[in-house]
Amino acid sequence: MRPITNIADLRELARRRVPRALFDYVESGSYDEITLRANSDALQALRFRQRVLVDTTGRSLETELVGDKVAMPLAIAPTGLTGLLRGGGEILAARAAEAAGIPYCLSTMSIATIEDIRAAISRPFWFQLYVLRDRGFSESMIERAKAAQCSALVVTVDLPLRGQRHSDIKNGLTVPPRVTLRNIWDVATKPGWFFGVLRSKRKTFGNIEAYLNKGRVSMMGAGEWSTEHFDQTLNWRDMEWIRGLWPGKLVIKGILDVDDARTAVSVGADAIVVSNHGGRQLDGAPASIAALPEIARVVGDRVEVLFDGGIRSGQDVMKALALGARGCMIGRAHLYGIAAMGEKGCAIALDLIRREIEITMMLTGVTDLRRVDPDVLYRAPRA
Ligand SMILES: Cc1cc2nc3c(=O)[nH]c(=O)nc-3n(C[C@H](O)[C@H](O)[C@H](O)COP(=O)(O)O)c2cc1C
Repeated sequence: MRPITNIADLRELARRRVPRALFDYVESGSYDEITLRANSDALQALRFRQRVLVDTTGRSLETELVGDKVAMPLAIAPTGLTGLLRGGGEILAARAAEAAGIPYCLSTMSIATIEDIRAAISRPFWFQLYVLRDRGFSESMIERAKAAQCSALVVTVDLPLRGQRHSDIKNGLTVPPRVTLRNIWDVATKPGWFFGVLRSKRKTFGNIEAYLNKGRVSMMGAGEWSTEHFDQTLNWRDMEWIRGLWPGKLVIKGILDVDDARTAVSVGADAIVVSNHGGRQLDGAPASIAALPEIARVVGDRVEVLFDGGIRSGQDVMKALALGARGCMIGRAHLYGIAAMGEKGCAIALDLIRREIEITMMLTGVTDLRRVDPDVLYRAPRA
């Protein structure tokens, strides 16, 4: 096998190793994918100022994210269905994150349960909450996160309903996956994936099994499922309700507007994630990186500002830090690693990003990542 030198290599391996419907699930954005593309285009358009003859030996990548000491300013973003890309996928990602010294955030819509992750790692992890209509059940998930000593509750607020992804519907993806006449050849050519998922303990949404009546949920049905079960009445007053239930760090994920960022501060959030859900929700919303600078300028002294959307390299991380983020989360970049090679693939993804951050620090003359400022970038667009 040729050496893996970047996240794109892991993506290509992932494409070959998991069935098409699952790869498309990871890859796609909502509707015309305008926002999905904008996320990476806008990051790529930024240019560093190359600085020379600065001694950066002794440079440090360490920082604190939402109260956790971390080896670099990166956390794994919550992603649904990760345990179907590779058997036990969330557990493998949590282990890779622990080994790399960064936080892992488990999704409500994961295959592994909160308790599975607790048993698999010793480091505190974060739990991402979708608030269901059944408030009692939502409260019980918060209780489970407390019992598992999660160090942060990440409430995702940009998905009152799922944005439509055409391929999920066209591919007929279901949870648990189903072998049909249409995908039998695809599955037959991915035996490693098939037996891995077959052998794994769980194959459906572990945290919310109580709602599934042991049936299959199709991705077309998932839209209807979320209409039925996600609480579309959720509003800022409910954030105060959650704040009252959760004594630990509270993170609000999915902020793209400066007024919402101000309100998040006023309801007592400890951190926000500037995010458009990886281009999977409001198509036509701006690139996350375009929304970041103003939000960081207005609320950055009162709340920790995290960022996600389009991060595929350490250079991307540095750009987000320069524009005011304390740290970044990665969705697809870690999923490519998991889908390609399980825990090892995720570890490779994290290591690639760490090394890219280091070299970028050297070439921009930065010694301490906690003090990266907009001066590492040109202010006006450059070729
Ligand atoms: C396959 C996939 C599943 C996702 N599932 C969730 C989820 O369950 N909860 C959530 O808050 N965000 C979810 N997200 C959004 C990510 O947490 C994150 O915001 C996004 O992936 C960042 O963009 P990136 O993939 O370009 O890094 C998901 C993203 C992807 C790609």
